[in-house]
Amino acid sequence: MTNELPQKQLVADSFGRAAAHYDDVAILQRQTGDELLDRLDLVKIKPQRIVDLGVGTGRNLSLLAQRYPNAQLIAVDIATEMLKHARQAHRQQQGLKRWLPSTKKPLYLAGDAEQLPLADNSVDLIFANLALQWCDPRISFAEIQRVLTPDGLVMFTTLGPDTLHELRKSWAKVDNYPHVNMFYDMHDVGEAMTEARLTGMVLDTDRFILTYNDAMSLMKDLKLLGAHNINRDRRRGLTGKQALAKVISAYEHFRQNNLLPATYEVVFGHAWGSIPAQQTSEDGSVKIPISQIKRKVIQP
Ligand SMILES: C[S@@+](CC[C@H](N)C(=O)[O-])C[C@H]1O[C@@H](n2cnc3c(N)ncnc32)[C@H](O)[C@@H]1O
Repeated sequence: MTNELPQKQLVADSFGRAAAHYDDVAILQRQTGDELLDRLDLVKIKPQRIVDLGVGTGRNLSLLAQRYPNAQLIAVDIATEMLKHARQAHRQQQGLKRWLPSTKKPLYLAGDAEQLPLADNSVDLIFANLALQWCDPRISFAEIQRVLTPDGLVMFTTLGPDTLHELRKSWAKVDNYPHVNMFYDMHDVGEAMTEARLTGMVLDTDRFILTYNDAMSLMKDLKLLGAHNINRDRRRGLTGKQALAKVISAYEHFRQNNLLPATYEVVFGHAWGSIPAQQTSEDGSVKIPISQIKRKVIQP
């Protein structure tokens, strides 16, 4: 695992700036969020404390509140501007109901998934939709394991390395700088979860393809989402008109049925808080059955 991750402050600033327009373009995030919630419906749990990790503008927070009205919700995000939007959106969604004494108000915490501002063994469910891709999985899953109760559940989506491969390949025709963020492979994620001693791990990947009329619209959307290029080694300063024209032209190579595809490789995963003693060997290694790691690839 050697991905160079973007600096924390850049991630926070980038998402902070994006907060106001994020909902207009968060198509993929809504789809994966809905699928994650559908998967949650299949699990019978009664969580008392739920963290929406990387809550963004808070759409899933309200859906989680509807599903688990008795639970204490905790919204965590590295970007304080996102938290403000999440709080506002939740208030609006609750309407007058929020004044009822029985209605629990979520807590909003500015924090990093790699250093969660939460006590050990304190959370029954961590829901993280498309937020962990900005983190080192070894650190974030160790943190997740630390705060989860032993029978607590983490349910997440993250992005795999094939994400935006069309844009990556198009930029490779222009220069040697990284223009698309790097993402960890599903197997790296699995290894990190195993190292963190999470148990009952299930992982699979799915491909989502968004389509655009032109490459410029895709790049604008990435900026509005706050998910544009923030690699450490990225080229600094404004991208020249010539380079932009070149990448736009290179992207045309992918045009199909008059539209440009943008592929997202989404890794779905869940696991439970801690490993039962009988699954741990004397040398400290952990036995996870191969059958618990599956790979599903849907070709465009
Ligand atoms: C693509 S958005 C997803 C937001 C939301 N989960 C959704 O489904 O719409 C990613 C969110 O993760 C947050 N984020 C990124 N890195 C983070 C970190 N290290 N710790 C906590 N939040 C982080 C960003 O600020 C942003 O709000």
